[in-house]
Amino acid sequence: MSEVSLKRPLLIAIDGPAAAGKGTLAQSLAGRLDLPYLDTGLLYRSIGKLMRIAGLDLDDAQAATIIAEKLTPDDLQRTDLRGREAGELASRVAVHPGVRAALIAFQRDFAHGPRGAVLDGRDIGTVICPDADVKLYVTASAEVRARRRTDELLAKGRLVDYEAILAEVKARDARDSGRAEAPLRPAADAIVIDTSVLGPAEVLAMAMSVVENWQKMH
Ligand code: DC
Repeated sequence: MSEVSLKRPLLIAIDGPAAAGKGTLAQSLAGRLDLPYLDTGLLYRSIGKLMRIAGLDLDDAQAATIIAEKLTPDDLQRTDLRGREAGELASRVAVHPGVRAALIAFQRDFAHGPRGAVLDGRDIGTVICPDADVKLYVTASAEVRARRRTDELLAKGRLVDYEAILAEVKARDARDSGRAEAPLRPAADAIVIDTSVLGPAEVLAMAMSVVENWQKMH
């Protein structure tokens, strides 16, 4: 007989702007709670990359939508999705409503697996999983995010300029929040965590206490 888990599934939505630390939090939270994790940015990143490789115009909504409809989980395994270039491409294809619509079912299926899940992105708590048990909105000032990103790149030996990165962060925020269909904004019932003056361990502890409080009440 197969083992039946008595634990109810737990669905956690984490949203927030680029480089605020939501990926780091989502990953460690999923590890701590033993839940499957989906970084939804990878979906948009792989569409952006596939468009670029095929020589397609990123503003071509129809082509982007076709690529989104054909996306497979294998596409998320590409090794060239994490960098800044893929992030910029992602942000450009993410503005097309057809692309967003094509990705909804995959994200919801993942979210509603038997154990629950942790998903991070921009619109998880508002559009993809408005039914999430716990919603977190992880943010930090643009200056702090640009400083962190600059330090990360400098540590990798790359020559980067803080002012240029700050301009990039602000431009990405504007693009990610300037659309009616997927506004970058906290859900009304999200708990906001500002990571400007917090380290990853403190952010995880804060998120864990939100989850534990929720579990005590359910
Ligand atoms: O989280 P990230 O940096 O990997 O996201 C890259 C881009 O993808 C981001 O600038 C906007 C887009 N995105 C989105 O529109 N909705 C999501 N749920 C996740 C990412």
